[in-house]
Amino acid sequence: MGILSAKLSAVKPSQTKAMTALAASMRAEGKTIITLSQGEPDFKTPDHISRAAIKAIEAGHTKYTAVAGITPLREAIIRKFQRENGLNFTVDQITVGCGAKQLLYNALVASLDEGDEVVFPTPCWVSYPEMVKLAGGVPVAVETDVKDRFIMQPGALRAAITPKTKWLMLNSPSNPTGAVYSRQDLEKLAEVLRDFPDVWVLADDIYEHLVYDETEFYTMVEVAPDLASRTLTVNGVSKSYAMTGWRVGYAGGPSELIKAMNTVQGQSTSHTCSIAQYAAIEALDGDQSFMGGFRDAFKKRRDLVVGMLNNIPGLTCDTPQGAFYVFVGCQELLGSVTPSQQRLETDMDFAMYLLEEAGVAVVPGSGFLADGFVRISYASSEEELKKACVAIGDAVAKLSRAYAG
Ligand SMILES: Cc1ncc(COP(=O)(O)O)c(C=O)c1O
Repeated sequence: MGILSAKLSAVKPSQTKAMTALAASMRAEGKTIITLSQGEPDFKTPDHISRAAIKAIEAGHTKYTAVAGITPLREAIIRKFQRENGLNFTVDQITVGCGAKQLLYNALVASLDEGDEVVFPTPCWVSYPEMVKLAGGVPVAVETDVKDRFIMQPGALRAAITPKTKWLMLNSPSNPTGAVYSRQDLEKLAEVLRDFPDVWVLADDIYEHLVYDETEFYTMVEVAPDLASRTLTVNGVSKSYAMTGWRVGYAGGPSELIKAMNTVQGQSTSHTCSIAQYAAIEALDGDQSFMGGFRDAFKKRRDLVVGMLNNIPGLTCDTPQGAFYVFVGCQELLGSVTPSQQRLETDMDFAMYLLEEAGVAVVPGSGFLADGFVRISYASSEEELKKACVAIGDAVAKLSRAYAG
């Protein structure tokens, strides 16, 4: 009998982290690799936020805190939800954890019994199905179509719900597709959910501020306030404030669930770093003007990458409205043969080929439960992105079509 649990043997390690690690090890061997597999902004945390952390250290805020986070941070989160989303919470309805990721996990552990089902649209973030399995649940993937902008359709949601469904997990803007749910998209899903009063909603809004063009961000409870009593709204400072390493995420929802999530956290990590909590107050309450600059830079890079990739025969991608990823179709290239006579059968083969031939690390779509795609993160400098797209184009040009036999 081995040491590992049966539950863990069903859980896959993160492919995004695996790809980034592989690229780092190739770089350590002296190879030039451009990493477009990362899930974090390349910007520095704004100085006023870092200074708040330094001040917190100097003031001696270096001890354990309340499990749910310090009260001034929870109050700042209440103000944020009220100001930006029109949502109203009390302090006992807010909790803070080590990133949005831990809050999603805490919520699942706190609510799932063995065999409970969690529905989510695919392509989805790599961690959703694995977290559900770790918490003893059953992931139920609902495929979305590129022609629907990768938006979950109400009929598909209805068909996926069973008496065992506990949650619908929704991520907008989406990792990996960049899809953003409009008010109407959410209203249609809310209409379905009204027929299933026992199904809860987990709204993962971590990319909230990264929306482009005329696109507006909405979260479920804003659009359907009647679902507030069964929705957990999860957000954090990682992506919008370039604070991935600080590990601060937060959630607002019914106090019974929040209390149970605090029990999970209180018996595992206790709370996130006290210093990072002070920095997060400054992030939420402080000057937000830098964010326009982040958004402008991302939008420019998105347009650059989408333009260059669509000029490569065999690759296709729409212009995503949010986050910092493009989800690129590579189906047409599958079946072709590399200069070393290897046939590309899957998106994983294509991603490995790009790493070896172009020196560009991307993440295969299969990691997001969507075969025939690769995810490219444009959270890199324009110069790097241009170089990467040229190298991808050159590598694709070296492929030859393989015909039957
Ligand atoms: C969809 C989605 N949700 C949540 C997270 C977690 O963010 P964090 O734990 O850094 O707050 C990520 C990070 O990649 C993500 O892509």
